[in-house]
Amino acid sequence: MKRVALLGATGSIGRQAIEIVEAHPGLELCAAASGSTPLDGVDAPLTQVGGDLTELLERAEPDVVLNAVVGFAGIHATLWTLERGIDLALANKESLVAGGELALAALARGGGRILPVDSEHSALFQCLEGRGADQIDSLVVTGSGGPFRGRTREELADVTPEEALAHPTWRMGPKITVDSATLANKGLEVLEAHFLFGIPYDRIEVVLQPTSIVHSLVRFRDGASLAHLGYPDMRVPISYALTYPERAATPLPPLDLTALTLEFRAPDVDTFPMLALARDAGLRGGVHPCVFNAANEVAVAAFLDGRLPFLGIPELVADALERIDADAARDVDDLVAADREARRLAEEGVPVA
Ligand SMILES: NC(=O)c1ccc[n+]([C@@H]2O[C@H](COP(=O)([O-])OP(=O)(O)OC[C@H]3O[C@@H](n4cnc5c(N)ncnc54)[C@H](OP(=O)(O)O)[C@@H]3O)[C@@H](O)[C@H]2O)c1
Repeated sequence: MKRVALLGATGSIGRQAIEIVEAHPGLELCAAASGSTPLDGVDAPLTQVGGDLTELLERAEPDVVLNAVVGFAGIHATLWTLERGIDLALANKESLVAGGELALAALARGGGRILPVDSEHSALFQCLEGRGADQIDSLVVTGSGGPFRGRTREELADVTPEEALAHPTWRMGPKITVDSATLANKGLEVLEAHFLFGIPYDRIEVVLQPTSIVHSLVRFRDGASLAHLGYPDMRVPISYALTYPERAATPLPPLDLTALTLEFRAPDVDTFPMLALARDAGLRGGVHPCVFNAANEVAVAAFLDGRLPFLGIPELVADALERIDADAARDVDDLVAADREARRLAEEGVPVA
């Protein structure tokens, strides 16, 4: 029996993870947590709503932690898990992006593994099969382009939260859905891929594939490229991360290639500046990815509340990155301080209602 601690059990990933665990005889839920939603229907011996997630993890003694919390709130659970060498099934990309070098140092000390749940990184992980950076030419992170693909900047000026939440291919929580509309999500994924696989930013490309069938691919140095294909359904990467190295059965139908058309195109980086801002934050290093993430979280929340226009999101993030004055984080306290300062700077840019 593999003991799974599920953080973010009431969310989009969390609910699908419960389905996977219940269907697999080798998996059991040892703990479940949410931020504020009651966990009434969740069948786990230990549950916690809000509070310090590491206290729950201490008691749960998990074999694998599925961190499906949204945002920087997942950072302590990620670091706790990595430090102890426990398998980390990682959906909460924000914690790896913000934690960066600190998270990698905890991973090295703990000697455990990160099993990516993000579909693109699960795809890359599976194509790589543990091959090192020296054998890789480049990584290609694919994306649908979100609901506003093909629009001009003028056409984005008045878009509403409702329109941004209407994702063409994935059903996800509100924060990541808005991130998909701005391409911040692809930016976070470039940073995530860099930290997961140790590949420099100039060898991580983003390509749009509107139907979300190709989940990413790896170009190797011998000229071969391996791609991962499948219907857009998060139960596949969740199952892979929880049952790795097994490939457990899921309810998905086999891929019907004759019914598919695969088109690829470059993202419009001028209309959607979040991608370039994320890359730039990665290249500057230190706490800049943390600042990118924190300012984006503030901007997305303000957009969803109707306090900030859609085009204000990248403006707020660019401004926070411009104004932040902080070095690399030596420890988690430095990181939390950088996150807090970036949030303060970003909040200053939100128009007063
Ligand atoms: N959804 C997807 O298909 C998808 C795909 C790839 C990656 N991801 C990543 O997976 C993560 C979760 O995404 P999601 O779409 O599942 O989000 P979601 O539907 O908004 O769910 C977020 C979950 O996090 C919990 N949470 C928030 N703050 C918390 C806190 N301080 N302590 C404990 N729990 C807290 C929420 O609890 P409450 O219900 O109490 O608020 C909820 O259970 C994100 O990092 C996202 O980028 C998601």
